[in-house]
Amino acid sequence: MNKLDSALIEASLRSSDFALVGNVEEADVVLFNTCSVRDHAEQRVLSHLGHLKHIKESRPDLVVAVVGCMAQRLGDELFKQPAVDIVCGPAQIADIPRLIDEAIQEKKKTIAVTEKIRKPSSDGQALERFETEYGVEDGNIPGQAYVRAMHGCDKFCSYCVVPYVRGPETSRPPAAIVEQAKRLAQNGVKQITLLGQRINAYEYKAGDKTYCLADLLAMISDINGIEWIRFVTSYPSQKFFTEIMQVIAALPKVCRYLHLPAQSGSDKILKAMNRGYTSAQYLELIDMARQIVPDIAIAGDFIVGFPGESDDDFEQTVELLKKAQYKNSFIFKYSPRPATSADNRLEDNIPQEIKTKRNIELLKTQEKISGKLAQSFLGKTVKVLVEGPSKKSHKDNPQLVGRTATDWIVVFNGPPASAGETSPNGGPSLAGRFANVKISKTTPLTLFGVLI
Ligand code: 5AD
Ligand code: SF4
Repeated sequence: MNKLDSALIEASLRSSDFALVGNVEEADVVLFNTCSVRDHAEQRVLSHLGHLKHIKESRPDLVVAVVGCMAQRLGDELFKQPAVDIVCGPAQIADIPRLIDEAIQEKKKTIAVTEKIRKPSSDGQALERFETEYGVEDGNIPGQAYVRAMHGCDKFCSYCVVPYVRGPETSRPPAAIVEQAKRLAQNGVKQITLLGQRINAYEYKAGDKTYCLADLLAMISDINGIEWIRFVTSYPSQKFFTEIMQVIAALPKVCRYLHLPAQSGSDKILKAMNRGYTSAQYLELIDMARQIVPDIAIAGDFIVGFPGESDDDFEQTVELLKKAQYKNSFIFKYSPRPATSADNRLEDNIPQEIKTKRNIELLKTQEKISGKLAQSFLGKTVKVLVEGPSKKSHKDNPQLVGRTATDWIVVFNGPPASAGETSPNGGPSLAGRFANVKISKTTPLTLFGVLI
């Protein structure tokens, strides 16, 4: 969601004659697009702001903005940081060019956040226009674009800050989403990733018809030029689940990938988290997904060290992870978030060392599963959307990285990068294009192979 917001902000600033520079020294304006999901992310921003305070001592005209969830959560408290000139919540990103202008011209500190975040507000309309106008290709992955299908969240999982910073759950009109996807396709975008905190809860009523995510996927599938469609993140719930799986099975453009966070395998902890399902119900959904789409890749999220999590509760999480056979899992240590019900009611009573130990153990269990699944690709040819040079790429050994429709990361020797030399496919770079790669080596997180 933040990557999308950053892309929108960047596009709007470009159209106001700003340009992106590579470092703070060259910049007139520095924007932090922030996340509040865990404390660590906020601490990193505060440490950057501390650093900028020193830079501003010699360059007082430098404008510094804190944008996003941390701005919404902390509001004018952020002005305690001497470097900060602008505080702008996620629903106000359309105002950023104006806020920057004011900061530069009038040298004043400005704040734009939603006053009552859980009340429907008129900010939505400005954001809707902004979104439709500046929806662009992702800056990091050529050929791909994020498109928001939903705002906010109404689930109130007890540990989670999102409902307090992103506001109530609303679905964007399907016509606006499809229109945006068409425009992106005309501009060469091949992959659309639909975004929502609970994307499978997408629901929009227009006249007699109720549109769900399955309808949206089918409508986007009909757009010429769009070849792959993804959607993140799903919430474990029966509603619309069968319809969505059936659409994945039926439509070749819809990627066979499901991100379905479980958070825990213990029913006691799931209840304390206010997740509204048991581990058995969760596993039923996984079974159902695999019955309808046998080759679907499933990814999970887990929180370890939630208040009151005993060794036995944790063992149940390990068991669930093994049963689910995820392609990969994102594992986090519980981080108390102010104002959430877990933080209000429960003591953060699992020591840091135990959180770390459980995190490592769960990662190891996942690694074994991922390693085995990865090996099953040996000798096979996979289609990837090429993202660009691999981070470890070397001049004499240019390597590219891409992703399969099932979200496996694939690293392969790319065409020479230097000017004048052409690739086997006839162009200087394959980034943003599809390629076929024969897999010759695997690790738990990455497949390696040769470009066909
Ligand atoms: N502490 C740790 N992890 C959290 N997540 C959300 N809130 C917290 C928190 N307070 C994790 C969940 C979620 C992912 C985006 O971040 O696993 O799925
Ligand atoms: Fe947070 Fe739960 Fe909403 Fe996900 S579903 S954003 S974890 S409150």
